[in-house]
Amino acid sequence: MKLFSNSFKYLVNSIIVSLMVLPALVIANEGGFPLDPAPDRSNNMAALQNGAKLFVNYCLNCHSASAMRYSRLQDLGLTDGQIKSNLLLASDKIGDLMKTNLSDKDAKAWFGVTPPDLSVIARAKSSGAGSGADWLYTYLRSYYKDDSRPTGWNNMVFPDVAMPHVLWELQGIRSVKYEDVEEHGKKSRVFSKFETIIPGKLSEAEYNSEVADLVAYLNWMSEPVQNTRKRLGVWVLLWLSVLSFLAWRLNSSYWKDVK
Ligand code: HEC
Repeated sequence: MKLFSNSFKYLVNSIIVSLMVLPALVIANEGGFPLDPAPDRSNNMAALQNGAKLFVNYCLNCHSASAMRYSRLQDLGLTDGQIKSNLLLASDKIGDLMKTNLSDKDAKAWFGVTPPDLSVIARAKSSGAGSGADWLYTYLRSYYKDDSRPTGWNNMVFPDVAMPHVLWELQGIRSVKYEDVEEHGKKSRVFSKFETIIPGKLSEAEYNSEVADLVAYLNWMSEPVQNTRKRLGVWVLLWLSVLSFLAWRLNSSYWKDVK
């Protein structure tokens, strides 16, 4: 008996806590650069494989993903042979964790900060303004040239970021145009558009698609079991409804004789 009423209390408490935390998350993100929704490629194996390749080629120089082993990429339909010949650095083995060769000391000296581990970055960046994937998708497409920065780059989503635009050869070099607006008698300068200074190897649509693949991979990596988790979630919800129903029936039968 006790068990049921405690579980029920726990359920109610969790709901109350979630309701209290949600608005705080939404408020924290107001006024930021608007996020573009990342295309959902979570079940697209070709996209995830391409994303893994982009990650190894362009990100692993500086960032680790130390919750991931290369061998895990088999879950994306890659064979050992493919992983070894296309994705592994010569010095690494298939069972190794995805570690960067950049030392903390060099990172500090070059960038002033250590590039964070990206294993769960898609979850870490999720907020009221959009999913972590939306943040990443917009971030990697919002770099612009800024000569006042030590790297020569700046970013609309992450102002004064210490990371250079590592995909610039693909996207090209862009600048930002602002416009003056007047609202309620107040003048301000707001973002108007990006303008291409030097085109990259890819068209805008192609670049967006590559970034979408990379983000799908980062998202997958942050939760490789998420498809299983979603299936489990349905059962958990069913179980909770059964539990709530029982708690409600028990509660009425307790109080029946008191009235
Ligand atoms: C040349 C080194 C370098 C490379 C290559 C690099 N990054 Fe970074 N990255 C950094 C640094 C340094 C930071 C920290 C920026 C800061 O805090 O200002 C960073 C920060 C980030 C962040 C923000 C993390 C946070 O917690 O806010 C993300 C996301 C990110 N990088 C993704 C990537 C992806 C994806 C790639 C591959 C396309 C990549 N990076 C390649 C150096 C690099």
